Amino acid sequence: MTAIEGRKSRIASNRSRGTTLDSDRRKKIKAAFTKFPATRILVIGDIIIDHFIWGSVSRISPEAPVPVVNVTGENLLLGGAANVLNNIYALGGEATLCGLIGRDIMGDHLLELIERLNSSTAGIIRSANRPTTKKTRIIAQHQQVVRFDREKTGPLQKEDLETMLTFLAENISSFQAVIVSDYNKGIVSGELMAALKKIVGKHPEIPVIVDPKPKCIERFSGATILTPNSHEAELMAGLEIRDEQSLAGAAALIQNKLKVDAILITRGEAGMALFEKGKTPFLIPTVAKEVFDVTGAGDTVIASLALARAAGLSLEEAAIVANQAAGIVVGKLGTATVTRAEILGTLR
Ligand SMILES: Nc1ncnc2c1ncn2[C@@H]1O[C@H](COP(=O)(O)OP(=O)(O)OP(=O)(O)O)[C@@H](O)[C@H]1O
Ligand SMILES: [Mg+2]
Repeated sequence: MTAIEGRKSRIASNRSRGTTLDSDRRKKIKAAFTKFPATRILVIGDIIIDHFIWGSVSRISPEAPVPVVNVTGENLLLGGAANVLNNIYALGGEATLCGLIGRDIMGDHLLELIERLNSSTAGIIRSANRPTTKKTRIIAQHQQVVRFDREKTGPLQKEDLETMLTFLAENISSFQAVIVSDYNKGIVSGELMAALKKIVGKHPEIPVIVDPKPKCIERFSGATILTPNSHEAELMAGLEIRDEQSLAGAAALIQNKLKVDAILITRGEAGMALFEKGKTPFLIPTVAKEVFDVTGAGDTVIASLALARAAGLSLEEAAIVANQAAGIVVGKLGTATVTRAEILGTLR
């Protein structure tokens, strides 16, 4: 039995749509929220553009047994690491994205969407070696008919990696926190993570918060905080999570293997659990009352966690904020975002 398993976990108080906090803690969170606009976060990861095509279906094609969609609308949204950026701006923070897009029309659209946020595009590399990752979903009668992806995954070309690393080395000191948003497209490679570790190593005050995919997990060793979901934590630990004890066991295994300060395991409808080195596990039930769409909840979690941490809240308080934000975002349709006012409204 590990030290963590042996300890009883604390459970945050939670009532329907609000979390009950003592007034000092609420005040502290409220004060930290005022610092969000002065907080600069660096988001490194797989940049994606989400393309939605909306329409209606009234017949099956005579050409093949497929529905014919009559297109009524189309839109482009920031996805992957760019959705984390979007969440940070909705929360009133400031962030810069570092990753790769193609020299193509979707790359132009992406830059336009990012400029609309008033976010610097200096860390975005336009590569001749791969297209902008684009996920197209056709939605008819409120139902997804098909999704198709245009992408080239795998390791970066040397020249692209070098451009990214130069940007990171030259700019790291202007950020208060780093988020790594891994969508398995190849940006978050072992090489990138090793170089990032070296660069951030000179600034121990900057936390590196990683939303990991459970592949080659050694890449994440030495990160400050990991935010896997339960399934990812199971794969990372090689242990099935059945109950609180195995949850703590998985967290301890990952912590020991990767030497990270903390793990925040997001547990869908069960909320989240924070495991901090040397502390009692902290379990937070979800505050979601109605759930419409859980897409992108993980992006909301890492964005709010990083902002709250960079604004000076303890990790436990930052997790409460992230859980509140996620509980609100799953009650909205589509890949949505959350504001500080909405979070404060649910903190009593
Ligand atoms: N079905 C649900 N009911 C209530 N709350 C939910 C639900 N799904 C997600 N949440 C909230 O959102 C948080 C993050 O969700 P989840 O654990 O699904 O992350 P994830 O799998 O990384 O999400 P993503 O699909 O964005 O990668 C949870 O910790 C919880 O607070
Ligand atoms: Mg996730």
